[in-house]
Amino acid sequence: MKGVRDLLKSVEEFDEIIEDIISNETVQKMKNYRQHYDISCFEHCKNVAYISYKICKKLKLDYKAAARAGMLHDMFLYDWRIKQEGMKGFHAIKHPRVALENSKKLFELSNREQDIILKHMWPLTIKLPSYPESFIITIVDKYSAISEGFSYYVRRLRFGKKVDLHN
Ligand SMILES: [Fe+2]
Ligand SMILES: [Fe+2]
Repeated sequence: MKGVRDLLKSVEEFDEIIEDIISNETVQKMKNYRQHYDISCFEHCKNVAYISYKICKKLKLDYKAAARAGMLHDMFLYDWRIKQEGMKGFHAIKHPRVALENSKKLFELSNREQDIILKHMWPLTIKLPSYPESFIITIVDKYSAISEGFSYYVRRLRFGKKVDLHN
């Protein structure tokens, strides 16, 4: 019972930390874009934010920054599979800067939060993350991409058809 209570408490705290972000109209639009497989950009960001929040809390790091920046780390509003007009270079390298610029227009971000967003594709983006929370998100982001892919194929095997975006 204690385990369930702790889980509910942590979900509640996490929801409070990111409440203003996820209720923002522009952030909500991330639900319209597919990130990996049938996972929307919004859902992927929430997965990364929650796991990073849990790890950073356990390690006594800045779990609020991890949760907030995790929720914004892929704040680009386009289908990355389609070449964007006027956008040069690879999406994988460019999008952290786009996500940061979009997020700064909507929220006040600390240096740590900005670093988390900007460096989350490291080591693809060369500059080293400056904070432990940034390192954690680089790993959690990659782990989430793999596990989202894995759960997609499990669902395909179970249900035998493509599953719609859900949030
Ligand atoms: Fe990303
Ligand atoms: Fe991501």
